[in-house]
Amino acid sequence: MTKINWKPGTMLSPLPPVLVSCGTVDKPNVMTVAWTGIICSDPVITYVSIRPQRFSHDIIKENGEFVINLPTWNMVTAVDFCGVKSGRDVNKFKEMNLTPLACPNVKAPQIAECPVSIECKLKSITNYGTHDMFLAEVVGVCVDDKYINEKGALDLEKAGIIAFAHGNYYTLGRNLGSFGFSVNKAKLKQMQKMEKVEVEVKPAHKKPVSDEGKKFSEKKRRSPFGRSPFHSRFKGKADAGKAPNKSFGPRKKLAKKPNKK
Ligand SMILES: Cc1cc2nc3c(=O)[nH]c(=O)nc-3n(C[C@H](O)[C@H](O)[C@H](O)COP(=O)(O)O)c2cc1C
Repeated sequence: MTKINWKPGTMLSPLPPVLVSCGTVDKPNVMTVAWTGIICSDPVITYVSIRPQRFSHDIIKENGEFVINLPTWNMVTAVDFCGVKSGRDVNKFKEMNLTPLACPNVKAPQIAECPVSIECKLKSITNYGTHDMFLAEVVGVCVDDKYINEKGALDLEKAGIIAFAHGNYYTLGRNLGSFGFSVNKAKLKQMQKMEKVEVEVKPAHKKPVSDEGKKFSEKKRRSPFGRSPFHSRFKGKADAGKAPNKSFGPRKKLAKKPNKK
């Protein structure tokens, strides 16, 4: 194995592509942000890194509040649209059928369609070059009760949150184990069994194979992780997730050249 040395780059992935809402319920704006994360657990401190050119930049700077909303897979068009169109030119809430909802702790609106909305109060702004880092304290979290399971915990696997990795959006796929499984003997054994299975990548060209060979390759190709919950949705099978009752599709033509992150 040889590792190639590249110059510094924004290679960290996957990242959460979140919808950052700001302004007020009457005059809301929303932008997509991937440069975000948690800095401290108690108090809960987070950040979003925003270029000064963004319309949202000055709104958040002025109001000192914003909301980080976690979008679901069926909102991916809205996620992309809010990341290529500016609130200077369009009302992204209206265009994407998003609903601005009042928050209990901040004046900035949350997005009703997102299962989790994190209310943030600005602590500081630091410039690091292309981006300003908005450091903020989390002052409340609003959760859609339909994603709370029988144990009272938030079941985000059911919600279908998404990831952003090297320019593409992804669903999360299978749960591979919960926090600390590596020190639980039974759970570890289960995982090690899965880790050993080789997942073959399908070749681009089709070679004729014998019946014996066919059986073997079919068996080997089947993923040990099973089908993603989203597979059945796209195949339209019984019990598949229902189509979203709201359309998040853009009404107007998308921008030809997306803004640089
Ligand atoms: C997936 C994705 C992630 C993005 N992440 C960021 C980010 O972290 N920081 C940033 O300044 N812009 C980011 N952008 C670009 C802004 O969302 C985009 O410029 C948007 O139009 C700004 O909206 P506004 O002008 O209404 O504030 C991202 C865009 C996409 C599609």
